[in-house]
Amino acid sequence: MHHIAIFASGTGSNARKIIEYFAQNDRAQVVLVVSNKPDAGVLDIAQAHRIPTHVIGRKSFYETEDLLAVLDRHQVDFIALAGFLWLIPPYLVQAFSRKMVNIHPALLPKYGGKGMFGKHVHETVKAAGEHETGITIHFVNEHYDEGDIVFQATCPIAPEDTPETIAHHVQQLEHRYFPEIIERILNNPA
Ligand code: GRF
Repeated sequence: MHHIAIFASGTGSNARKIIEYFAQNDRAQVVLVVSNKPDAGVLDIAQAHRIPTHVIGRKSFYETEDLLAVLDRHQVDFIALAGFLWLIPPYLVQAFSRKMVNIHPALLPKYGGKGMFGKHVHETVKAAGEHETGITIHFVNEHYDEGDIVFQATCPIAPEDTPETIAHHVQQLEHRYFPEIIERILNNPA
């Protein structure tokens, strides 16, 4: 049985989809939700599904390796970053090499990197006059949005599209593919 931890900083709509997708799965389960925000909506989603949660502070996350013990206690062997805004420190990247993925709401390597999250990504893509955008799921390394790309899906950008409508189309792709790609990686370890 694989034990998945989800790291998220915000609403947690992707986390909800992943939790629901694996709820009846006999090969993988979400066993922990980690957030850097004590009031993140994702924590309420975890509690509603009776999944343990853990809130981390910047000092502990970057100056200690205490989180490894928490992950170990829950036998976590895979991490999905679903809107987690902090850069992953080297000890965690190394401990979960090719066992940690991130989802980015654009077609990397373009429109990625520090500060490229939320509506700002879609505003930038729209302003650049792109005719399509999409999602990127990638392994995580020490740099924002730079690990090996695992999967991408695209959607067109119509002239009448706004950053809000683009965000909606992209989120549909995230919800459609992220759980399935996690399962594919777990079933075919790289
Ligand atoms: C998504 O847009 C994801 O691509 C990005 O953070 C956002 C998380 O949204 N990494 P939610 O909290 O899952 O709704």
